[in-house]
Formats: sequence, C-alpha cells, structure tokens
Amino acid sequence: TDKPKTRVLFLHCSVSATERSDLLKQKGVTIWLTGLSASGKSTIACALEQHLLHQRKFTYRLDGDNIRFGLNKDLGFDENSRVENIRRIGEVSKLFADSSCISVTAFISPYRADRQVARELHEKANLGFVEVFIDAPLSVVEQRDPKGLYKKARAGEIKEFTGISAPYEAPENPDIHIRTDECDVTQAVKIITEYLTTHNYI
Ligand code: PPS
Repeated sequence: TDKPKTRVLFLHCSVSATERSDLLKQKGVTIWLTGLSASGKSTIACALEQHLLHQRKFTYRLDGDNIRFGLNKDLGFDENSRVENIRRIGEVSKLFADSSCISVTAFISPYRADRQVARELHEKANLGFVEVFIDAPLSVVEQRDPKGLYKKARAGEIKEFTGISAPYEAPENPDIHIRTDECDVTQAVKIITEYLTTHNYI
C-alpha cells in the first residue's frame, strides 16, 4: 500500500505547482540518468548541473555522495535495498521537481520496474521525467574501472555487483540514449540540454 502508516492529513496550501513555476519562471523536471557503474553518470550529471546553473537555472544533483551517505545510509546493494534506494530517490527527486527545480539523478537504478515507478510518480503529479540511458558496454566500463570495483567483483570480493553478479536491465525506450564510448561529456551535456529546450523545459 502507498498510504502512510499513521493518519496524515494533507494541508492544501494556496500556491499550486503551476503557480510556483510561473512565478519562478522555471518548470520542474527530473533528469534520471541510469547506467552501469563507471558508465559516466556522475561525470555527466556534474557537468550538466554546472552548465544549467551557469544559465541561472535552479538545478540540483542527487547522487551517491549526498544520498547513500545520508538519507539512504541504511541501505546496501542486495535487491531489496536497491529497490528501496530507488523508491526514496524517486520520491525525493519528485519533491525537487515539484519545487520547480531541475533535479538530476545519477544512480545505477538497475531495475526497469523501479524506474517506471519513479516516472509514474512524476507524471501523476504533472511533472516532467526524462530517462537518460548512459550506455557503455561492460567491456568498456570494466576497462575503465576507476575504483577497482569490477576487479574486486570478478575476484568475488564484492558480492552482487551490477553487470557481474547482479542484473542491469537496460532501458528499452529511453527518452535519451547516450553512448559514452562514442561521445565526450560536452557532447552529452549538449544532447540533454537540446532535449530540454525542444521539450520546453528550459
Ligand atoms: S543502485 O543500484 O542504483 O542502488 O546503486 P547506486 O545507489 O547508484 O550506487 C552505485 C555505486 O555504489 C558502488 N557500489 C556498487 N555498485 C554496484 N553494485 C555493488 N554491489 C556495489 N557496491 C558498491 C559503486 O561505486 C557505484 O558507483 P558508480 O558511481 O555507479 O560507479
């Protein structure tokens, strides 16, 4: 059930989401990056956040550093924990989008169904949700291996590692598909911002 456990009454305030975005002259949207570890999610999310902030767009990035070390520090990497991780991130990014923010999330988010839940949560609230597949073949990310995690996973020192011993369900129909073995960060940011422009988010 998606009902709160205790009785909570919603207080209806006078400023609607539409009024808020009109007043702030910015539409809320979540740019949801998904992909394997070391595919380039964080690098692209950082560059995108920086670019949008320099355009004076209210933008905020959610990634492992500010979520897995804070709100979700009780969660690990087993299937249930990942589902809960993404559920909470979906809710938090929705709140940011509701505040008229461009929220940029950078998590593996390996399960299609969980990403769909996050999308529906936004769409139900009339908020934009843009799924971006940050795609690089396993052979490439394994070669990059910036934190040496793939090596440890292959050696069996890390259990349930995405792509090696835990699944990654690639998006079948992402809004944007970026091959990071074929384009650089600047091009990736351009592809995303062009999408935001043509879809009237910025
Ligand atoms: S998930 O699947 O969406 O809940 O994962 P996420 O919150 O994005 O965290 C992924 C980062 O955690 C590190 N790490 C692991 N990744 C995958 N599998 C396992 N078992 C694991 N253990 C630790 C890893 O550095 C991921 O970082 P990124 O930035 O994706 O490389």
